[in-house]
Amino acid sequence: MKIMIVGRGGREHAIAWKLAQSPIQPQLFLAPGNDGMLNLPNTVRVPLEETDTQGLLDFARSNGIDLTVVGPEAALMVGIANAFQEAGLAIFAPTKEAALIEGSKQFAKELMDQYDIPTAKFRTFEEYEPTKAYLDEIGAPIVVKYDGLAAGKGVVVAMTHEEADNALRDMLLDNRFGQGKVVMEEFLQGPEFSLFAMVNGEQVVPIGVAQDHKRAHDGDQGPNTGGMGAYTPVPFIPQEQVDWAVEHIMKPTAKALAQEGRPFCGILYGGLMLTADGPKVIEFNARFGDPETEVVLARLKSDLLQMILDILDHKPVTVQYNDQAYLGVVMAANGYPGSYPKNLPLGNLDAISNLLLHMGTKRDNGQWLSNGGRVLCVIGQGGTLAEAQRDAYNGVARISAEGLFFRKDIGWQAI
Ligand code: AMP
Ligand code: GLY
Repeated sequence: MKIMIVGRGGREHAIAWKLAQSPIQPQLFLAPGNDGMLNLPNTVRVPLEETDTQGLLDFARSNGIDLTVVGPEAALMVGIANAFQEAGLAIFAPTKEAALIEGSKQFAKELMDQYDIPTAKFRTFEEYEPTKAYLDEIGAPIVVKYDGLAAGKGVVVAMTHEEADNALRDMLLDNRFGQGKVVMEEFLQGPEFSLFAMVNGEQVVPIGVAQDHKRAHDGDQGPNTGGMGAYTPVPFIPQEQVDWAVEHIMKPTAKALAQEGRPFCGILYGGLMLTADGPKVIEFNARFGDPETEVVLARLKSDLLQMILDILDHKPVTVQYNDQAYLGVVMAANGYPGSYPKNLPLGNLDAISNLLLHMGTKRDNGQWLSNGGRVLCVIGQGGTLAEAQRDAYNGVARISAEGLFFRKDIGWQAI
């Protein structure tokens, strides 16, 4: 079986690592992948960009690709699933209409409102003056969100009126992310967790819960990033709350999208908060999260490839987990998420026994170099989260990588 994986980061490395273990023994085409992924058996890189839909489609057709799995949202938003479906090719990814659940905060909020899916109260605005008037009326704390893709920087949790007003000026007067709308949201409190479900139409299969660490520095300080580490399971989110979220959030959302004529196929990622009133949606993503995928797939015992084939066929999907805990630490280039240098030498990568997922690396003349902001994700494993944490940091300590930094407190909420 020939499988194409679209994307090039740690998430895609984890997907490839997991698919490579399938008894089906697929051949993996990585578009474009990264050099670290070539350690896996039966892999070949395809030099195509994630958003080159036509190029990817042509490649899939002429090489007899049986199934395509997509990582990054950018590929979804330009309609990779639409193009493959129209061509009659199997793809595990939502159409751009379904992926709007991630692409537009306003769309997501209105859908949740209409279908009674628990989330923070909100109002959408386009102009500065009425937004400011609303802010004056409601006051802080309040959450200001730019409606569109803003690389994780479009959300300001404003604890003061002044912070909120600055964010509004930034987004609506200075058009920092382009001309767009702003969603003003009720401030919620509670621990956050990411719930992943495989979805095809109204079929919803939860595959794991993880907690991300979005801030760059220890103690959840510093700027928002794509994620500096993750772990699974999440002990302070009781299983009955997860089950509740599947029944009252994930399933109704899949059903709502289907009813709206935007049936979802792929990974629906609920970014949820366990509030005093139960789980509520902070945001949805239409794809695997990064770095949560790295730990969620490590914990998955079942054959991911068989699971994807089954859900695409609307068959029941079997999900089994290992009884181990997994914790991933991201090593990033100094300066990330701002500007950062590339080509930093990385040593001892082969010396550690941890699962090592490459987020942004390349191989040059026999030497590993950094090639992105987030560079490596080192996975630890153990009977408890504390053991998994120790295992991960033992691995991190053995990697020689001057110019990289990492958080030293991944898992602090659980351990
Ligand atoms: P988002 O990009 O929507 O996931 O938001 C980024 C982060 O902002 C989340 O992970 C939360 O920590 C925080 N956040 C977003 N919305 C809210 C809210 N309504 N109340 C409190 N915190 C929020
Ligand atoms: N780790 C958060 C995300 O993938 O959006």
